[in-house]
Amino acid sequence: RMRTLAWLGIASLCLGAAWAVPDKEERRKAEKLKADLALYEHVDLDNYDLTLDNYGEILDLSNYEDLYDYSDLAPKIEVGTLAPRPKDPAALPNLGTTAETPKLQPVTTAGPVHPAPIPTQGECRPLALPSCLLCLCIGTSVYCDDADLEHIPPLPPETTYLYARFNRISAIRASDFTGLKKLKRIDLTSNFISWADVDAFRLLPSLQELILPENRLTALPELPRSIIRLDARLNRIPSTGLQPEAFRDLKQLQFLHLSDNQLDHIPAPLPKSLRSLHLQNNNIQTMHEDTFCDSQDHSQIRRALEDIRLDGNPINLSLFPNAYFCLPRLPTGRFF
Ligand SMILES: *[C@@H]1O[C@H](CO)[C@@H](O)[C@H](O)[C@H]1NC(C)=O
Repeated sequence: RMRTLAWLGIASLCLGAAWAVPDKEERRKAEKLKADLALYEHVDLDNYDLTLDNYGEILDLSNYEDLYDYSDLAPKIEVGTLAPRPKDPAALPNLGTTAETPKLQPVTTAGPVHPAPIPTQGECRPLALPSCLLCLCIGTSVYCDDADLEHIPPLPPETTYLYARFNRISAIRASDFTGLKKLKRIDLTSNFISWADVDAFRLLPSLQELILPENRLTALPELPRSIIRLDARLNRIPSTGLQPEAFRDLKQLQFLHLSDNQLDHIPAPLPKSLRSLHLQNNNIQTMHEDTFCDSQDHSQIRRALEDIRLDGNPINLSLFPNAYFCLPRLPTGRFF
């Protein structure tokens, strides 16, 4: 009888857990949403007191340590729920110890691991398995760093964040990202990319961050309207490598980082949303009075554009005394 009771107990536990699944799903979505909002807070700092120094801290997300501050931490937590559950509860402490790596520490769903049924329709659904074997798929993030890749691997349709840094990718084809409607961030830092098809990114409706520093680009592909941050530092892009008025219609663009390229003028017009323009270490020699401010409208204020870097360019900023009146801060550069 004891056995029957125990069995019943377990059965009801399982049932309870099964019922809890939709709830859990809901909660997961809520967490995800929160995480997404956190990303916005991160990008969308409403803080005008930032110095260049802490900008570096806040915006330079290109190193490994910052990786773990990313908002996709929440999906990462799901690793626990995706792993096959040991039948023997004695094996559970093991799970606990793997979850104790510092990276997984800020787990919001901490607490005892309940023997919930394995979610069969979870995020590791038949995804594009080849790339999930080659790379690490955690939630909807795909990590392919330092994996000797020469091409963008086929990606699961749900991919939201892609990290393929420190590889040997030399070209981005229009077909590499087709249909990835949820893709928000692409990070291809430090590859050998010298070519990107014009349409490679333009048709991605959710893309907010395109991160391409330390490559060999000589032209910038077209960007989707959803873009918030473009980082193409340390490439070989001349001004002729930018489409005319390339940034005019990008009404979400806040961070445009093109330092250490071969630009010989400041791209214009710049969208009102822009907050940070990094053009240091290029070959900019001159500019127009209208580059930042509308010379016809002296009441104009561009509060957002508080971080302009023009140092390391052969331009004498003193020659354009009327170019800065609308800015909350003078550009960084040579004024003598
Ligand atoms: C920069 O421009 C200012 C103002 O015209 C001028 O006084 C100064 O000599 C210039 N500096 C150089 C290095 O040309």
